[in-house]
Amino acid sequence: MNLLKHFLAKRRPDVPPLDYGVLRCDVHSHFIPGIDDGAPTVEASLELLQAMYNLGFRKVVTTPHSMADGYKNPPEVILGGLEKLRRAAKEANLHLEVDAAAEYYLDHALQEKTAKQELLTFGQDMVLFELPFIAEPVVLMNIVFELQTQGYTPVLAHPERYTFWHANLGTMEQLKDRQVLFQLNTVALAGSYGPAVKKAAERIIDKGWYELVGSDCHSLKHVDALEAARTEPFLHKLVDSGKLMNATL
Ligand SMILES: [Fe+2]
Repeated sequence: MNLLKHFLAKRRPDVPPLDYGVLRCDVHSHFIPGIDDGAPTVEASLELLQAMYNLGFRKVVTTPHSMADGYKNPPEVILGGLEKLRRAAKEANLHLEVDAAAEYYLDHALQEKTAKQELLTFGQDMVLFELPFIAEPVVLMNIVFELQTQGYTPVLAHPERYTFWHANLGTMEQLKDRQVLFQLNTVALAGSYGPAVKKAAERIIDKGWYELVGSDCHSLKHVDALEAARTEPFLHKLVDSGKLMNATL
């Protein structure tokens, strides 16, 4: 077998690039200018929004970080930034619907805001939250319970990225038993966080545990990864599963 034949025999079958238009709405990103580690300026935000439109999206729910320490981002800051961004998008003739919620870090501030029902949501009372990357928080199940008791639908951001779960999916299974929705970072499938996170994402897809996908886009680097993810067989498998709720939002 000559070299070319050998290469053709080994490569995976061609996968047509996914049209992100089938998802319609992206639910995790950092597009509000200057309030977290996402787009630093209105110009950068518009460039990212245009890129999302070009990929096929027609709506984004952008989700600035909100935490006790660091990016506090109370609702008035996020909603004020949203208004500014919407005005700029309109002036730029961008036909993309822009909404905002937040990516809440699991800490005491989240517990307090939950008790006061001060959380920004999307869809059916959905609250996007993330965990520390170091270890599973002992209060995780309590906070899930508190969120649900207050009428919220918890959505766990990027479960594939929590490496402390890679060897054992038991806690993830418990969260699914408690009706917690899972959101995949699409760029994980393109290898943006390394091979172990990509593998974890593929295992969770095989389990059928994701209901939402989001770009977690902070910059043009993520746009390139979104482009690359279009030909990932597991992204097609997830879309074809019919479980994703993005298009309903
Ligand atoms: Fe994020």
